[in-house]
Amino acid sequence: MRRLLIAGNWKMHKTVPEALELVRELKTLVSDVTDRDILVCPPFTALYPVGRELKSSNIALGGQNMFYEEQGAFTGEISPLMLKDVGCSYVILGHSERRHIFGETDELINRKVISADEHGLIPILCVGETLEEREAGETEKVVERQVREGLKGLSPESELVIAYEPVWAIGTGKTATPELAQEVHSFIRGILSDLFSEEKAGKTRILYGGSVKPENAKGLLEMPDIDGALVGGASLKAESFAKIVKFDLEE
Ligand code: 13P
Repeated sequence: MRRLLIAGNWKMHKTVPEALELVRELKTLVSDVTDRDILVCPPFTALYPVGRELKSSNIALGGQNMFYEEQGAFTGEISPLMLKDVGCSYVILGHSERRHIFGETDELINRKVISADEHGLIPILCVGETLEEREAGETEKVVERQVREGLKGLSPESELVIAYEPVWAIGTGKTATPELAQEVHSFIRGILSDLFSEEKAGKTRILYGGSVKPENAKGLLEMPDIDGALVGGASLKAESFAKIVKFDLEE
């Protein structure tokens, strides 16, 4: 039904030689995987060489962010055309680090989502509550706002991916339990159903992110509404990322 998507968000890690080493090793380790999608999102400087290395492999390429304009006086920004140009098919948008460190708002993220879609990139919209928000009982309110605002104006025909990443579980070693994650995933699917249709909600992949490791991947990925993972730290080593990709294929 929904094809699994295992994505690696390398964040601000890896020089070009390091990136190439990682991806060469990864290619070999996952070359036999055919029943799920695999994605890596290197930093901008490594996109082009990594993209070349991944040509005709089973690993897709994605950006970690982009601006919504095609070109112009936007110092330090990267456009959707540039991501397409180097071989990206996906782009992560609204990651909590973009929201919290760089002040990205739902409105800005929404413009990026629309632009990514218009340029043929599949947006991976990240949503998730902080620890404070969870403790205040605001998880659903926050996640619902981020999903609704982030997807405003998006056509029901457009392909999109949602990543639920509770901020308190990112890089902290604290993973949401599979049950807790499942609850939010199912809630998000309900919002998609309301926004688009039940059919669209049933087709849309919702990834979990936040301290996903080879040891906890299986429990999370076996949940009915968890359709993949967005992996940070554990995607920086080919072996651990490959283990997550193959969570149910090998001992
Ligand atoms: P970690 O897997 O390092 O917790 O990072 C999760 C994340 O933010 C992926 O986008």
